[in-house]
Amino acid sequence: GLAGRDVLVPSRTSYPCGGRAQCTLTRSPGVQCFLRHVRATGFVKKQCGLVGLCFGGLAFQGVSDHSGLYKFSVNESDRFWGAVARQRLSWISPFHTVQNCDFSQGKIKWFEGGKLNVSVNCLDRHVHTCPERVALIWERDEPGTEVKITYRQLLELTCRLGNLLKRQGVRRGDCVTIYMPPCPLAVASMLACARIGAAHNVVFAGFSSEALADRIRDAQSSTVITVNQGVRGGKVVDLKRTVDQAVQNCPSVQQVLVAMRTENTVAMTDRDVPLEEEMMKEDVVCEPVAMDSEDVLFLLYTSGSTGKPKGLVHTQAGYLLYTSLTHRYVFNYHDGDVFGCVADIGWITGHSYIVYGALCNGGTTVLFESTPVYPNPGRYWEMVERLEINQFYGAPTAIRLLLKYGDEWVQNYNRSSLKTLGSVGEPINTEAWEWYHRVVGDGRCPVVDTWWQTETGGICIAPRPADPEAEIVPGMAMRPFYGIKPALLDTEVGEVLSSNDSTGALCISQAWPGMARTIHNHHQRFTETYFQPYPGFFFTGDGAHRSKEGYYQIVGRLDDVINVSGHRLGTAELEDVVNQCPAVAESAAIGYSHDIKGEGECLPKTRSGKIMRRVLRKVVERNTDELGDLSTLDDPDSVHEVIRGHRRLR
Ligand code: WTA
Repeated sequence: GLAGRDVLVPSRTSYPCGGRAQCTLTRSPGVQCFLRHVRATGFVKKQCGLVGLCFGGLAFQGVSDHSGLYKFSVNESDRFWGAVARQRLSWISPFHTVQNCDFSQGKIKWFEGGKLNVSVNCLDRHVHTCPERVALIWERDEPGTEVKITYRQLLELTCRLGNLLKRQGVRRGDCVTIYMPPCPLAVASMLACARIGAAHNVVFAGFSSEALADRIRDAQSSTVITVNQGVRGGKVVDLKRTVDQAVQNCPSVQQVLVAMRTENTVAMTDRDVPLEEEMMKEDVVCEPVAMDSEDVLFLLYTSGSTGKPKGLVHTQAGYLLYTSLTHRYVFNYHDGDVFGCVADIGWITGHSYIVYGALCNGGTTVLFESTPVYPNPGRYWEMVERLEINQFYGAPTAIRLLLKYGDEWVQNYNRSSLKTLGSVGEPINTEAWEWYHRVVGDGRCPVVDTWWQTETGGICIAPRPADPEAEIVPGMAMRPFYGIKPALLDTEVGEVLSSNDSTGALCISQAWPGMARTIHNHHQRFTETYFQPYPGFFFTGDGAHRSKEGYYQIVGRLDDVINVSGHRLGTAELEDVVNQCPAVAESAAIGYSHDIKGEGECLPKTRSGKIMRRVLRKVVERNTDELGDLSTLDDPDSVHEVIRGHRRLR
């Protein structure tokens, strides 16, 4: 009686605590038999009366292999996403329409009619089955001082924080700005917002007070959550001070919740609320709000080619589903694995794979507070050994940097736990790819070069969606994920390039659940940027090549976005800063190729991405003897470049 239905397997599985979990299934004997066989072979046994490929507890009629499943996912996208959404997410009430999208208006809606709570999907359902499983490993700056937080503890933190936010007047639909380094309270803050129906706006804690103020103002936050100080690479960073400077110019802010990362006291004002102290007064139970699928989950600001950074909007159900599915299949993540993504939670990579995708899957996820070279260039691999990380996910810029320090820093540590190596944020050149594969992964771990964007919500092109045996070509993102239908368009005439071995503007021809829904308060800019350049398509801003075999390789941005160390910078933003120097009448920022960072942009910046304006000022004022402390600069040589450039101009 199961043939012909898309959902074959019980949605509730229970996991025994600890170790590598295996699922104990509860349902009819027929299903048990089906699953045992599926687990052993990946395929449904004919004599059970079921034929097909098992995909996360689902089988689709007529689909017997991975390429068939991909075709089904794009051709029958309603059936595919409908079944996956019912199977993977816990709904408070079911959706009535799988998708309702129209690219010409920039209208993207998924799972309308459905109600759910994202924090319940990420926490409560795992607490029911496996409360003592570790949810977060907080890899603090000093090696060996990691802190583990179980699902039960994370739910408690989230509930207390949710109650505190409510007590402070935060309501459903408000937007809370979070300015914190990776730490359990940052994750709990994000999930607490989700629990009470508020949106969050996480701002990377390396951004300047001006950048923070811009984002707080645009999001109209009344509440900011921060820490007294951050600790990174052995240095203490005064984050609260940056927030104090920022909120001076943000009339919407009524309160700042301050967590204590270090023991140092910082000046507190009437506006400031000591976070730990106040949250401990709150109850550990906080009723989750039933959210509509299309309610806002978060804003995340990113650079565009012109104007101010844009606040991309992601919503509840589609985003959660897409991140959890890609987390599971792109990285081949299994229950009990330790997922080590070394991005910051302030970027989309952190949102989607450190937090939402990983926790929705009941995973154990690492929060990395340090740098790749602290206390030495062996840091990543020493951490891999100590935490027994199974999937390592990082940026090519760090790989290129570490490669220069030599193989011993890697070989000193046991990396046998590693199963998959991921790369994200910028193209990975062949030399770095080979080194990552051969030295870090001992030649036995697949390297997955994952292409995606803040706008796409999750990974769109990656080497091995689901098929752990598929061929991988170094330096190529390779294959579209389920439900993703890429297209290359001729940049001159705007026509679809249908043959292989062609290069063009990378577009996506149909909607997927993880894509951004709009730009906060600027829907017109959203349609103009993404849907008008190539009508009928979502335009990514990137160029790509499709090889003879049909594999995709990302060529790089077609617009004025510069990619430095995997961070997106708009030329307009850089020019704005340079133009503030009195001696500058006009400026133009361009990217040039850089061995380690991919592209360089000449300007002296701190490791966290702040441009050191005072250094520029001294150079322009010809006071190069008084440059002051340059120790936080990412690349001290950049100052000499600026000085040389300035001399030439004179
Ligand atoms: C670039 C980061 C080549 C690309 C997840 C994209 C990549 C921009 C890759 C998005 C990759 C990201 N290969 N280029 N594997 N991944 N990019 O929004 O130019 O910070 O448009 O999202 O990074 O950057 P964002």
